Amino acid sequence: MDYDVLQKDLCLLGNSFVAESITSFKDKLAFASQADDIYLFQADCLDLLDKIAAKYPNGCFDMIFADPPYFLSNGGITCQSGKVSTVNKGDWDRSRGTEFNHAFNMQWLEKCQRVLKANGTIWVSGTMHSIYSVGFAMQKLGFKLLNDVIWQKPNPPPNLSCRYFTHASETLIWAAKNSQSRHVFNYEAMKEMNNHKQMQSVWNFSPPHISEKQFGKHPTQKPVSLVERCILAATDKGAFIFDPFAGSSTTGVAAIQTKRGFCGVELESEFIQLSTKRLQLALNKRSRI
Ligand SMILES: C[S@@+](CC[C@H](N)C(=O)[O-])C[C@H]1O[C@@H](n2cnc3c(N)ncnc32)[C@H](O)[C@@H]1O
Repeated sequence: MDYDVLQKDLCLLGNSFVAESITSFKDKLAFASQADDIYLFQADCLDLLDKIAAKYPNGCFDMIFADPPYFLSNGGITCQSGKVSTVNKGDWDRSRGTEFNHAFNMQWLEKCQRVLKANGTIWVSGTMHSIYSVGFAMQKLGFKLLNDVIWQKPNPPPNLSCRYFTHASETLIWAAKNSQSRHVFNYEAMKEMNNHKQMQSVWNFSPPHISEKQFGKHPTQKPVSLVERCILAATDKGAFIFDPFAGSSTTGVAAIQTKRGFCGVELESEFIQLSTKRLQLALNKRSRI
């Protein structure tokens, strides 16, 4: 990829965010489609968020979807495709103790709050390993909690120890930047999607379809349909969406499919490569419509 071309006069059209100004991060740009407002950086999100916040003190993102480390890769076991396997998703998911994990959640959430526009909202996913820390951090930071949404999984793996209930759900916290925010909620669109009845806070989605893993899989990949619903509920067309823990860029794919802009950050080269292929395919498909 010709990074010079990508970086030339790089700006996010339709948004106040101008990536060109993040000069020290130009070398971190891994993928861009300027015409579509789609950008992916290979960086530590804590560093990139500081740069963006310094340039845009009033915020520049309409919505954030964050799927942070759940801190559950500690040698436990689970069942995958009928076989026993260890819960080891990568070093980035290893718990470093309750205090450290919570301090990390405070740190990235505080930085995300700064880059949200005044009326912007954030979605954060988690399980019992992380979501209570995330929720507490959000309350400490003055976010306005809007909903906790349960993502119910229709066919979860069995619990091998038979000493616990089968883990069949994850939680998404939806929150606005602060108590003054006048957040977007596309009530009618959600109602229409739910057979003309008010959309409830329990959502049933299957894990990512095999076609979402055609270029390889990320160990904690989210279904595109789940992220799409968050985007459709909380933003208007042309909105600019940020993901600090992009992984395989499910949020980017969902943003492309719903005609929104996307800026993602991911540390690992393997997932940057996977993201690049997924983003390019989603853009190609959209241009054919
Ligand atoms: C839970 S996964 C996200 C999966 C994603 N939602 C998807 O559907 O593919 C979290 C990702 O965050 C990345 N990560 C962890 N710490 C990071 C950091 N400080 N900055 C940027 N990325 C980070 C990990 O490499 C991992 O790919």
